[in-house]
Amino acid sequence: MAANSKLRAAIIVISETASKDPSTDKCIPTLQEVFAEDGGGIFDAMETVIVPDDALHVQRAITQRTDGEDFVNLIVTSGGTGFAQKDVTPEAVTPLIHKHAPGLIHGMLAASLAVTTFAIMSRPVAGVRNNTIILTLPGSPKGAKENLQSVIKQLSHACQQAAGVDSRSLHAGGVQKLERDAGINGSTAGHHTHDHSHSHSHGHGHGHDHGHSHGHAGPKAHTALEDRPHISNDPNAGPTRRYRESPYPMLSVDEALKQISDHTPAPKIVKAAVNEDLVGSVLAKDVTARESVPAFRASIVDGYAIIASKHVLVPSTKGVFPVTSISHAQAGEVPELKSGEIARITTGAPLPPGATSVVMVEDTVLRSLTDDGQEEKEVEILTDAIEPGENVREVGSDVKAGAVILKKGEGITAVGGEFGLLASVGTREVSVFQKPIVGVLSTGDEIVQHDREGDLRLGEVRDTNRPTLLTAVNGSAFEAVDLGIASDKPGALEQTLRDAMRKVDVIITSGGVSMGELDLLKPTIERSLGGTIHFGRVSMKPGKPTTFATVPFKDNAGERQTKVIFSLPGNPASAVVTYLLFVLPSLHQMSGISPVGLPKIKVVLDQDVRMDPKRAEYHRVMVVAKEDGQLHAASTGFQRSSAIGSFKGSNALLCLPTREGSLKKGEKVDALLMGKVVSKM
Ligand SMILES: *[C@@H]1O[C@H](CO)[C@@H](O)[C@H](O)[C@H]1NC(C)=O
Ligand SMILES: *[C@@H]1O[C@H](CO)[C@@H](O)[C@H](O)[C@H]1NC(C)=O
Ligand SMILES: *[C@@H]1O[C@H](CO)[C@@H](O)[C@H](O)[C@H]1NC(C)=O
Repeated sequence: MAANSKLRAAIIVISETASKDPSTDKCIPTLQEVFAEDGGGIFDAMETVIVPDDALHVQRAITQRTDGEDFVNLIVTSGGTGFAQKDVTPEAVTPLIHKHAPGLIHGMLAASLAVTTFAIMSRPVAGVRNNTIILTLPGSPKGAKENLQSVIKQLSHACQQAAGVDSRSLHAGGVQKLERDAGINGSTAGHHTHDHSHSHSHGHGHGHDHGHSHGHAGPKAHTALEDRPHISNDPNAGPTRRYRESPYPMLSVDEALKQISDHTPAPKIVKAAVNEDLVGSVLAKDVTARESVPAFRASIVDGYAIIASKHVLVPSTKGVFPVTSISHAQAGEVPELKSGEIARITTGAPLPPGATSVVMVEDTVLRSLTDDGQEEKEVEILTDAIEPGENVREVGSDVKAGAVILKKGEGITAVGGEFGLLASVGTREVSVFQKPIVGVLSTGDEIVQHDREGDLRLGEVRDTNRPTLLTAVNGSAFEAVDLGIASDKPGALEQTLRDAMRKVDVIITSGGVSMGELDLLKPTIERSLGGTIHFGRVSMKPGKPTTFATVPFKDNAGERQTKVIFSLPGNPASAVVTYLLFVLPSLHQMSGISPVGLPKIKVVLDQDVRMDPKRAEYHRVMVVAKEDGQLHAASTGFQRSSAIGSFKGSNALLCLPTREGSLKKGEKVDALLMGKVVSKM
């Protein structure tokens, strides 16, 4: 190999999608850029190929470039190193390796771990076949780039060694020459290696830091493969081995609800005007009546205000009396009533000063009219049995000024009359718990607007979750904000979340909670936003990947706040169940509503139901009130969680205990009521 010729690197992208439509691939340009910018001008990376997720294709693409005269010096593959069924790259590559290079794996994992703990979920392979170094990189452009960058400086020397360049001539210039050739600066390179050994050597001892000092350049592992906990290079390990599980512990539903209750921010108290918008709010302080109701002595019938008394000296009310004034239920002065006079009065009108009672019009007879014939002049009262205070509503008989009319914690409902009560005593403003504003976000580059025109392209998925959740939030009487679809690129997700936190108190995301390489939400919350993930898995069906996090946030006024993020499963039915089960209680708590969440009822099973011995299960059912006076649960189909159709016609979630066996027809079970109970009586 001529000393001045470049090292040939081949890029093999392993992707079903990109093999059908190469325009979707972003890895090749990204990796070529790394070779050009970080490779010290040593690599020529023009050879590229895209193959589907198929072990034979992968192996052929590699051996074509390793077995024969025209070999390349370096092969980097991208993709297929995750835990999905289709991920077969390690299994395809491992049998081709003649000499393993665990040091390279180590270097890549250490660098990735510094970015995300999800690095432990990749399964890289590195080694030498014939004269070529082979390296498997993750499928995401960002992950592939970071991995390659972490080892590229050391690769040129390794490539030359692998290609059989005489090692004495290579070493002639000493470590400094090696490093210069590799494009690394002596002093910084030393520190670099040193740093790594300190920050990433947990559990596998010291000893990494002398890599360059004893004159043997190139990566060399100091631990044996079997001693290394990170990864298994066993080609038979397959997707069923370890690390399939998320690093977050599995919580029971009750434990998850406790976390939500413990970490949901305290309700904010605000002043609110007394108007229709108040309906649905909860009072944060007692409300006292500013004024009495009624504010004056009022008649409760149409009739005549009179002066009645048990006192023997006061004349009887029976007889003919002059009508001296008229009191209507309208604002204004009412002249005083004198002994021997009566005043016409309508219901609700104020009693004239001096009047004691009202006699109903039915107990009277009109005797004469005024000369113009327009008004009553004299009226005969037919009874003397009128008591003082009869037919009079006294001042404050409904509500006394200063009395507590509504208590802290009471809700202003549309049907409970609380609003009317506030209005009646002239309360114009009350303290309430501010209702949180809820933003709904979808994540994933494969997600497209649900109503986008045209057919879906391969890999595209219509966004059904966001519209479904927006409706659910609105349906539970909270303001819902559509946050759109966030890209899978880490920077984009972080920016979307930061923008969202300025607008909303609670963010609900869906999608991006699986174990795929693209689950960026958790690392973004923990690393970029400084948030805390309180749980990332719940033992339930459906809804296992449900995630709850809080993030500290300073608003524009510099006030510290806590924002809440829920990440719900990627299929609409599970998303709605987990919204009702986990998000709603948090929204209620933030609004001061108690008890939180859906109301729990007992229902009679109309059929046998199998239980799950491991996970709590929530079945959609139709609850019907029947003649026996009991609520009955009829299944709307005990179907799979992915079927949004199963939500149709269900008004409750049956809460199945975690047990072996079946619940029998006729047994009583808890259910959470989502909608109106249907009557079948
Ligand atoms: C490369 O390795 C394969 C498998 O070990 C072997 O059959 C082949 O001859 C080798 N080719 C060269 C050029 O060394
Ligand atoms: C290494 O890099 C530092 C900082 O860029 C520079 O000051 C130093 O001269 C470099 N050393 C060598 C050996 O190139
Ligand atoms: C729910 O949606 C309706 C219709 O768009 C809207 O009028 C109402 O204000 C929304 N409710 C809340 C609480 O935002």
